[in-house]
Amino acid sequence: MNSVIELLKSHRSIRKFTDKKISQELLSDLIQAGQAAATSSFLQGVTVIRVTDGEKKAAFVDISGGQKYVATAAEFLVFCADLDRSSRCCEWHDAKATVGFTEQFIIATVDVGLFAQNVVVAAESEGLGICYIGGIRNNPARAAELLELPNNVYPVFGLCLGYPDQDPEVKPRLPVPVVLKENSYDDGQDRALIDAYDQDVRQYYRTRTGGKKEMSWSEQMSGLLGKESRPHMRAFLKDQGFDMK
Ligand SMILES: Cc1cc2nc3c(=O)[nH]c(=O)nc-3n(C[C@H](O)[C@H](O)[C@H](O)COP(=O)(O)O)c2cc1C
Repeated sequence: MNSVIELLKSHRSIRKFTDKKISQELLSDLIQAGQAAATSSFLQGVTVIRVTDGEKKAAFVDISGGQKYVATAAEFLVFCADLDRSSRCCEWHDAKATVGFTEQFIIATVDVGLFAQNVVVAAESEGLGICYIGGIRNNPARAAELLELPNNVYPVFGLCLGYPDQDPEVKPRLPVPVVLKENSYDDGQDRALIDAYDQDVRQYYRTRTGGKKEMSWSEQMSGLLGKESRPHMRAFLKDQGFDMK
C-alpha cells in the first residue's frame, strides 16, 4: 500500500484540538489543494468562508446543536455551493443567467464535496485533524444570514480544522463487496455481509465509549432513515434561488 492510500485509510474525524494555530501559508496551500480538484464544466462552483469572528463562531456552535469544537478548532470553514459568481459572468457578457436548475444544484454541490475532501486529505497529510459539520444545516437560513450569502449560494457544510488533541480509532467501513458491484446492482450477499459488519461496528463503539454505547451500523441507519431529515432544506434552497427546475 502506498503512503497516499495509507493516509486515506487512516482518516478519522477529530473533535478535540490543541491551541496550536494553522499558519496562513498552510491554510492557503490547503485551499489551493481544494481548488485543484476536478470541477464539473470548469464551474469552480465553490466559495469557502473562513469564520474568525468570535460571535459568529458562537452562533455556528448554536446552529450546530452545541458542537463546541466548531469554536475550539483552529479554523472553522463554511463550504458554500456558489452559482452566483458564474451568474455574474453572464451579466458581463450580456447574457441572461438561466439558473435554478436541479442539474446546476447537483454540479455545484458535487464541486463542494470534491474541493472539501481535497482540503481534508491535504490537511491530514500535514498532521491536522478535521471534522465536517453538517449541523450547520439545522438552520441554514441563519447560517446564510450570518455569512451574508447572496442568492444562488448556499452553505453545504462546515469544516473544523486543527491539530488533534485525541487519537480515536479508525471507524470500520462496510465490506468492499457491499459497495463495489459488477455490472448490476446485485444485493444478494449484502445482508450476510452487513450482519458481520454490524458486529465490528458494535465492537468499535464498545471500545470507543468504554462500553457505554453499543450500536450496529444497520441500527443506526434504521434510526436515521426512519425519521424526517431536515425537511426545511427544500424551502430554504428554493428561497436561496435553487428552484429545482
Ligand atoms: C458532510 C458531513 C457532515 C458531517 N457532520 C457532522 C457533524 O455535524 N458533527 C460531527 O460531529 N460529525 C459530522 N460528520 C462526521 C461523520 O459523523 C463521520 O465522518 C462519520 O461518522 C465517520 O467517522 P470518521 O470520519 O471518524 O471515519 C459529518 C461528516 C460529513 C461527511
